[in-house]
Amino acid sequence: MEDRNAFAGRRQRASIGPRAIDSCAVEVQRIGVVGLGAMGAGIAQVAVEAGFDVVGREVTPELGEAAAARIGHFLTRKVEKGQRTEEERDEAVARLTTTTGLEALADCDLVIEAIVEALEPKQALFAELETICRPDAVLATNTSALSVTELAAATSSPERVIGMHFFNPAPLMPLVEVVRAELSSDDAVDTGLAVVERLGKTAVPCHDTPGFVVNRILIPLLNDCVRVLDEARVAPEALDAAMTNGAGWPMGPCALVDLVGIDVHVHASEALYEKLREPRMAPPPRLVAMRNAGLLGRKSGRGFYGY
Ligand code: 3HC
Repeated sequence: MEDRNAFAGRRQRASIGPRAIDSCAVEVQRIGVVGLGAMGAGIAQVAVEAGFDVVGREVTPELGEAAAARIGHFLTRKVEKGQRTEEERDEAVARLTTTTGLEALADCDLVIEAIVEALEPKQALFAELETICRPDAVLATNTSALSVTELAAATSSPERVIGMHFFNPAPLMPLVEVVRAELSSDDAVDTGLAVVERLGKTAVPCHDTPGFVVNRILIPLLNDCVRVLDEARVAPEALDAAMTNGAGWPMGPCALVDLVGIDVHVHASEALYEKLREPRMAPPPRLVAMRNAGLLGRKSGRGFYGY
């Protein structure tokens, strides 16, 4: 296992500018994004805005087109608000291609996986990507609660696998956790850090521990918030008003769980509880019932609130 101090030293070098990052890091121009749901489309958007060529893969042409349209919509909103010129928007849109075949990712320098949050399909994807992508391409996962090391173990080149954990909504949230798995190489980690810097986002490098940094704290905190709904007998609106006005949160916990997706949050809670066995990690029954009833938050039109 690598010396943790060595990682800390590299983080300091990486944070003082691109030239300080180890020269063996892959020079990235073309990024593949597998899965163009809310997270994947958001990641593809920030990548084309930052000047990368992006190949986005979805399982059907219709889903790919819907994601491209969603990205086009948000870029047009930026033009309308004077944050981008029409020319910049058109150039960004032109840098995105969508595909249904993984073979189209063969030329990518970095592939970011953002498919369904389950170990087996992700492992199968990484095993396939390994046979398609160049040997020097870095393979990253956007997983929020699974082990990057276990995903990397599905390949015979785990040194090129890292985590790049974006936050929802990816175009608006500045943070990306760059996760070093047990066998990740320095070059792969440095490539991830350099890309985050070019995206104009803040990288926090960390090791592959359950929930990494933010979700290790945020998941049990949101679970506590949901338990307080019943304990203090307050409505979601009141709890959200309490946390926005009393704790300075940008949005209340119920609105945030609706944004993240009740199913996504419950799954992340279960994954962390399985690993850490801390009661606060376990999803509150109220959220499990909502998930089972199809109340998934914004994406289903109803969660704590109606949309
Ligand atoms: N994608 C792209 N662009 C978007 C977007 C999206 N999903 N949502 C909004 N935008 C754009 C829109 O164009 C919008 O402008 P418009 O309404 O005029 O068209 C513009 O961004 C600004 O949107 P808002 O007015 O809604 O922005 P706010 O200033 O209100 O901020 C927020 C919104 C950034 C979401 C803020 O409320 C916030 O920070 N909330 C907390 C979010 C958070 O904590 N996320 C982390 C969740 S945990 C997680 O992701 C981990 C995972 O592993 C589970």
